[in-house]
Amino acid sequence: MKYITFKNGDQMPIVGLGTWKSKPGEVYQAVLWALEAGYRHIDCAAIYDNEKEVGRAFEEAFSSGLVKREEVFVTSKLWNNSHRFEDVIPALKKTLEDLRLDYLNLYLVHWPIAFKQGVGFARTREEFYTYQDVPLAQTWAGMEEAKAQDLCKHIGMSNFNISKLEEIFKTAKEEPEMNQIELHPYLPQEKLVNFCQSKGMLVTAYSPLGSGDRATSIKKDDEPNLLEAEKIKEIASKYQCTPAQVLIAFSIARNIAVIPKSVNQGRISENLKAAKIQLDGSDMQELLNMDTHYRYIDGSFFTNPYSPYSLEDLWEK
Ligand code: A2P
Repeated sequence: MKYITFKNGDQMPIVGLGTWKSKPGEVYQAVLWALEAGYRHIDCAAIYDNEKEVGRAFEEAFSSGLVKREEVFVTSKLWNNSHRFEDVIPALKKTLEDLRLDYLNLYLVHWPIAFKQGVGFARTREEFYTYQDVPLAQTWAGMEEAKAQDLCKHIGMSNFNISKLEEIFKTAKEEPEMNQIELHPYLPQEKLVNFCQSKGMLVTAYSPLGSGDRATSIKKDDEPNLLEAEKIKEIASKYQCTPAQVLIAFSIARNIAVIPKSVNQGRISENLKAAKIQLDGSDMQELLNMDTHYRYIDGSFFTNPYSPYSLEDLWEK
């Protein structure tokens, strides 16, 4: 397995199992299959609404001796309804209880968007907080406190653009260590990735396969299918691998962790094997040239007419 390395020397396996959209009733088995296949990195989040079941899989894996806790890198994410300083640690403790762990390897602020406490998904103006109500720096201070209490080893964020990262760097006592963002050949985000890496942050790619299993309510009818793209299929046949493996190898070649989601035993194993594929420089350039700035996860579910947040502010131009 390849790793990416934090400033203190801690290592994160470059391929992890994604669990967004993995349904209860499926994710327990998926996590165990992944650990059996050799995965040592599992990506979770409170909002995925399946952490209790993932926790049962961890308990089974640790008690049966399949793996030791210290061999597995576990990430989770702070949901938007717990951005106030005093809400961060309780949210993290709930996640730890659900996952049946006593620490996380990495805890991320899931989105730079805040809802009021107890709101699952804000739909009215009253259910949102603005940056004036809860500045991102306040949330970050909560993350620093979580790290200070050793509830997580590393802290970072997801879906932060350059200007929001710069804002955090201005006041941070503990520097952000990770930005988890949507990345694939249609959206390679070279400027943002370069910015993160120049600041010594690591990067994780979410939706590396295009997340085709999203609910129809957050999916456009005419969206492009990455796994069916001609260029991807052409490169896959050159390396005698699958399109999914090309997409995973694309992130690995950029030194970016990647968390393909699957609940299928064969595909879980196929995705891990992508770590063995080394795409050459010209193929990487061809893949980078596929950039159309296409976002599958465009954040529009946070910008209804009543929301104080806008897409222009969320994403870099
Ligand atoms: P499944 O869970 O049935 O394997 P993303 O990681 O971008 O969110 O994409 C997840 C989607 O890609 C899911 O629909 C998942 O289905 C599918 N998927 C995962 N691995 C593969 C693979 N190796 N080949 C084709 N589809 C895959």
